[in-house]
Amino acid sequence: MKKMLIAGNWKMNCNSFEATVLVEYIWGGLLEKILKSEILVCPPFTSLETVVKVLEKAPVHVGAQNCHYEPKGAFTGEISIQMLSHIGVEYVIIGHSERRSIFGEDDELINNKLKAIINADLKPILCIGETLNERNEGKTFDILKFQLEKCLESVTESDIYKITIAYEPVWAIGTGISATREQIVEAHDWLRTYLISKYGSVANDVIILYGGSLNAKNAESVLSVKNVNGGLIGGASLNPEEFLIIINVAENILSNS
Ligand code: PGA
Repeated sequence: MKKMLIAGNWKMNCNSFEATVLVEYIWGGLLEKILKSEILVCPPFTSLETVVKVLEKAPVHVGAQNCHYEPKGAFTGEISIQMLSHIGVEYVIIGHSERRSIFGEDDELINNKLKAIINADLKPILCIGETLNERNEGKTFDILKFQLEKCLESVTESDIYKITIAYEPVWAIGTGISATREQIVEAHDWLRTYLISKYGSVANDVIILYGGSLNAKNAESVLSVKNVNGGLIGGASLNPEEFLIIINVAENILSNS
């Protein structure tokens, strides 16, 4: 049965007041609904505790956008997974292309974070994806394979289902140019096949999200792809009406599947 996770990556947007207004609007749009999809919002660190409290009784989960892999210590400016867990955060996004390209995070660091998140019983969302140059040079699947091999190093069959993978072509993030349905079908089929070849049939249960200019207009075309289990949504998740439309699209797809 198809599963769906609709996740909002707010990036560096919303102070705690703005975050409260945003999630109250989203929750308001979900009242009286029995949801088949899982809904997630990932605010900046300073709004996390507020958002967890506001959403305490709401069918909306809360995630962070980053973490450090050590539980504590001399890491100025960092936040540990234990600190996130303590305030009720359930998910952590890692390996986002903005963290890779702007902050120089590499696959080894991402692998350390991933293992620490699993050990702490939180849920990692691992972002992978090729740049435009890599796609134009025909290297898309080499890149995805390389990133998965490094980021999932020492992850076993018994843990693979705990990891959500987000395929985010770098060139589609924040550009308004989503990958085409054909490109998404090809990438997600490849990812599912790769995961099954490595981990066996348990990999059928791994949630694979698409991210990159997903919005209310293209949601139906993207989310209805067989091996797409939801979206990691940046810009459009900051507009609560648009986010609710995307959730509705996901709900309709699940109802008809
Ligand atoms: P976007 O961002 O939806 O604004 O393209 C997606 C992401 O960065 O996760």
